Amino acid sequence: MIPPAHSSPPVSHASFVTCPPVTCPPVTGPAVTAPIGDDAAIRRDAIRVLLANWTGAYTVPSRTLYPHQWSWDSAFIAMGNARWSPRRARIELLTLFGAQWRDGRVPHIVFNPAVTEDAYFPGPGFWRVRAPSGAHTSGIVQPPVHALAAWRVHLAEPDRAFLYRIYPRLDAQHRYLRGSRRMSGTELVSIVHPWESGMDNSPAWDSPLAVVPAAPTARARRPDLAHVSAAERPTDRDYARYTAIAASYRDAGYTGRTDFVIEDPLFNALYGAAEVALARIAAVVDADPGPHLRRAEEITQAVLDRLWDPVSGVFRARDVRTGEMLPEDSVAGLVPLILPGLSTDVADRLVATATRRFGLNDGMLLPSYPPGGAAFEPSRYWRGPSWINTTWLILEGLRAADPELAPKVGAQILRAVREAGFREYFNPVTGEGHGCGDFGWSAALALDVLADPAMAGRRIRSNQVRDVR
Ligand code: SER
Repeated sequence: MIPPAHSSPPVSHASFVTCPPVTCPPVTGPAVTAPIGDDAAIRRDAIRVLLANWTGAYTVPSRTLYPHQWSWDSAFIAMGNARWSPRRARIELLTLFGAQWRDGRVPHIVFNPAVTEDAYFPGPGFWRVRAPSGAHTSGIVQPPVHALAAWRVHLAEPDRAFLYRIYPRLDAQHRYLRGSRRMSGTELVSIVHPWESGMDNSPAWDSPLAVVPAAPTARARRPDLAHVSAAERPTDRDYARYTAIAASYRDAGYTGRTDFVIEDPLFNALYGAAEVALARIAAVVDADPGPHLRRAEEITQAVLDRLWDPVSGVFRARDVRTGEMLPEDSVAGLVPLILPGLSTDVADRLVATATRRFGLNDGMLLPSYPPGGAAFEPSRYWRGPSWINTTWLILEGLRAADPELAPKVGAQILRAVREAGFREYFNPVTGEGHGCGDFGWSAALALDVLADPAMAGRRIRSNQVRDVR
């Protein structure tokens, strides 16, 4: 099944418009100073992982558990690769966007045709789609962190030709979200499957999933359990529902609503931040940044209007089918900290929530779900463990919101990978590693943190040696 044809409007040529500051550290090119001691070992090992997972055109998140290309993984991996091989970073993103559909959607998985169907579930035989390039893909999306990634890759090694190639594709990705996923009549976009959130089995999804019937035909195979203990993965019950929702969406031609229609704070915050990155890119490629900046403002306002919970001081997902806010918090509710237009008041409340309820400042790794919550499971996928990508997103937001706290969060990321290796996720209390090993974005984002000038002070303090190279 191929989605309907989609034609891109011409890129307009307009005068340069100054963009607001984005929450990015200055990127000065691939690591200008070589880290020392422990940090040098982390850097070497991170590059080893990224080399081992590189296929020649993109990076698999894991050679065992995830043997294809994943959408938001590739964006995070590109930001890390930008620190040592910007060329690979550009190829990574261009390969992903090579599998973009005509309607602009960027599929969450692009399948490697050399990998057998039974290596991963659900594989191409389940999704039954081919992108215009001929690639087999899934039919759902993931959080749109790609414009931010493209901009960071450009900052690491300016390359206007790359931006000229990727900008119309990023613009089409956002046009798809705007055109097909605004399901509440507001500026917010909806996800139609828990996999689209990137946080598959988050406790936040328990209540909307509880009413989803698991069709008897929606049988899931679990090749994942050959690589990772069942105690660290979503349950069979979760998979029955994931499969039922995906099958119904497929059977409807990958359009419209499913039994799961949610406005997620992480997805929408990245969507808004990506519009700011698009504005910056537009200015370089002689396009008009104005519409992107306006949309960034409108999305930020809608995130505040619809998802901010002033009582608990955190953003919450909203169920578009019922109109209700979902009762469970997760780290997704802190991610709007990355929105450049967030007011200081709200940013301060979020930092307070991150510190008090998520234990951000007390030596614990940032959990994906608050440890005091009834559903907390410290080693099960998105029900408590700390993940490097969400911690990194909070770090990005803290650069403006709390510059003193930001390097401490960067130090947490380095501590996690130093003590447990580049695991997929970590017990936030003990630091023990879980999920697969040699995980792509854990390695990539550690490299990004190491290359960050704001971390230099931490390195001197932690190693008690001057970083003079
Ligand atoms: N996160 C999903 C998995 O675990 C896929 O997107 O397979």
